[in-house]
Amino acid sequence: MSRFYITTPIYYVNDVPHLGTAYTTIVADALRRYHLLRGHETRMLTGTDEHGQKMEREAQARGLSPAHFVKTMSDRFEAAWPKLEVRPDDFIRTTQERHVRSVQDLWRILESRGDLYEGTYEGWYCYGCEGYKTEKELLPGNICPLHNRAVEWLKEETYFFRLSKYANKLLDHYRENPGFIEPESRRNEVISFIESGLKDLSVSRTTFTWGIPVPGNPKHVMYVWFDALANYWTALQDSDDHKKFWNEGTVIHLVGKDILRFHAVIWPAVLMSAGLRLPDTVFAHGFLTFGGQKMGKSLRNAVDPLAIARAFGDAIHGENSGADVLRYQLLRAIALGQDGDFDLGAMVERYNADLGKNLGNLLARTLGLCTKMTGGLVPHPGEWTALENELFAAVEGHWVEVLDAWDAIEPHRALERIWAISSLANQYVDRAAPWAEDKKGNRARVDTILNTLLSVLGGLSELVWPVLPSKSDEMRRQLGLGPLAPTVGEDWLAPGLEIRQAGEALAPGAPLFPTLDETRAGALVEALTPRIAEAAGTGEVTVLTAATSGATKTSTSTSTSTSTSTSTSTSTTEVAAAAPVVTYEQFSLVDLRVGLVKACERVPKKDKLLKLAVDIGEAEPRAIVAGLALSFQPEQLVGRRVVVVANLAPREFGKGLVSHGMLVATGPSEKLVLATVDADAPPGAKLK
Ligand code: MSP
Repeated sequence: MSRFYITTPIYYVNDVPHLGTAYTTIVADALRRYHLLRGHETRMLTGTDEHGQKMEREAQARGLSPAHFVKTMSDRFEAAWPKLEVRPDDFIRTTQERHVRSVQDLWRILESRGDLYEGTYEGWYCYGCEGYKTEKELLPGNICPLHNRAVEWLKEETYFFRLSKYANKLLDHYRENPGFIEPESRRNEVISFIESGLKDLSVSRTTFTWGIPVPGNPKHVMYVWFDALANYWTALQDSDDHKKFWNEGTVIHLVGKDILRFHAVIWPAVLMSAGLRLPDTVFAHGFLTFGGQKMGKSLRNAVDPLAIARAFGDAIHGENSGADVLRYQLLRAIALGQDGDFDLGAMVERYNADLGKNLGNLLARTLGLCTKMTGGLVPHPGEWTALENELFAAVEGHWVEVLDAWDAIEPHRALERIWAISSLANQYVDRAAPWAEDKKGNRARVDTILNTLLSVLGGLSELVWPVLPSKSDEMRRQLGLGPLAPTVGEDWLAPGLEIRQAGEALAPGAPLFPTLDETRAGALVEALTPRIAEAAGTGEVTVLTAATSGATKTSTSTSTSTSTSTSTSTSTTEVAAAAPVVTYEQFSLVDLRVGLVKACERVPKKDKLLKLAVDIGEAEPRAIVAGLALSFQPEQLVGRRVVVVANLAPREFGKGLVSHGMLVATGPSEKLVLATVDADAPPGAKLK
């Protein structure tokens, strides 16, 4: 029996799920569903990468403990995926005990092989990459080209992993297993990297503590990539799944091209050292741009796949429909492995053309004809003519290619073939012209044509399931078929159509993909676009300038309430240049106080707002209403010290809701960071 273990990278929790991370995860889920339909035993793993100095610093910046911070962020990933119809079998967090324990076991194995030794490391470290960089890899000014920020010079005691020892073994492995690195172009890149010389790898750090302690030497914590890569293996340790999936299954790691080297060089070398089996394939996909723009961090936050799916679902009135449409667009528009642009206008166009006019129309016209001509029942297949034989032969040819495409992990090609079947069936309706046969009173012929169409549609409902699971269910419901419930050993996708039995009832319903006319499409794109423009404006920092008229807030998002604040999308550098010089007297007009949040709650029917009671040293806590709800759960804020603008004019929110102050914060509304002070400062202390 075939078994498939499909993994995504585990995502850093200093970011929220965005279109880039959704892309890998959706590809993995579609592949999982394909194998399920083939009757294969399938396991999909995703999760979050939670250790390292980057996370420790992020947590500190928010005034949270690392454990609290990573849990909150990890929860967002876990909750996001089902909204995109992604159903992983397991979700691993690198802070889980099961992971920590097994990574330490792996460390001990490597140590027992003599592949770990102590030494000193000096070099340029990029916290964005969580890795050392050679000078060659840096831009002038020691800037990391990937993160566009300065690297830091570090010198510390470290354990090294004897990576260099595995260079030749790795090259042999690639040669003997050409499918190990996919696509092929990427393989050559990795080979040249190794051929240019592999150095031993620093795999522990001593300058911070937020990591997995090195067994026997807890002064060191493991290098975050050592810890992270092991997740694919540690997630299987607590059951016999290790044997079933790692040792006896096909193991596929889906990764972005940015992290291919970690997966194709370091990870297999670690496994070789430990005497463990290597994965079968590391597939590196390309990078997405959004509307032609690079998804930098500020933009990525705005390119929220859940918002896109929700807005699309609302526009076409169907629960989960939006997720299906997004999945289709991501997998169809971009050849996996290549870079590609995600464009909302193109998504609407493809929706109308492929989903609406092609597949949706095929279903609607077939069911419409059945309502008229067969009393809403599946008719007899009768005698096939050359037309049917030709159609069935062509369908079978495409069908085989669909399977081949999925096996080669080429979802775009699979979808292209599936839609070729739908186009053929649409052409067949026109060529067979059942309405003309009906006029002639040729009942048997009408029945044959409609049965043929229903049988092809039944097949299409199976083929689309990996990418459009919810639409497949709806399609099958209208066709009088139950939803697909794949079981191990049963191959739903074996080539060859199942011919529908006469007499079964059909259940035509609302159009599967109602056309988005220009007005609705325009409104949809517009509803999503400001979010992009907003983030692209880079105005992430909230700057308070003391103007005589009060405080002027320059930010991309209204994170706090103020009657006198104005919001613009000017970039921070521009703000710095444009801000007028103020005297200390002018600055001191702004009454900044240390506040302690005593209570916090959501505001009914206002998605973005939280209502806080903040102690600023007065007899009663201040009631402050702030736009923090997209970034914080109320309970996260209680007990935190914040910076309050205490002398702002009160602001009305209607229904008696009034804010008596403002919290100082930075960032877009989904990822705000609150200004804070050292815990010692008492509530009410003035900031000056
Ligand atoms: N935590 C590491 C992975 C450890 S795996 C053992 C990491 N995390 S990440 O959150 O920064 O990114 C993970 C993956 O997100 C990338 O490899 C890539 O798969 C995906 N993407 C991030 N931005 C992307 C695009 N703009 N386009 C496509 N995928 C992108 O690296």
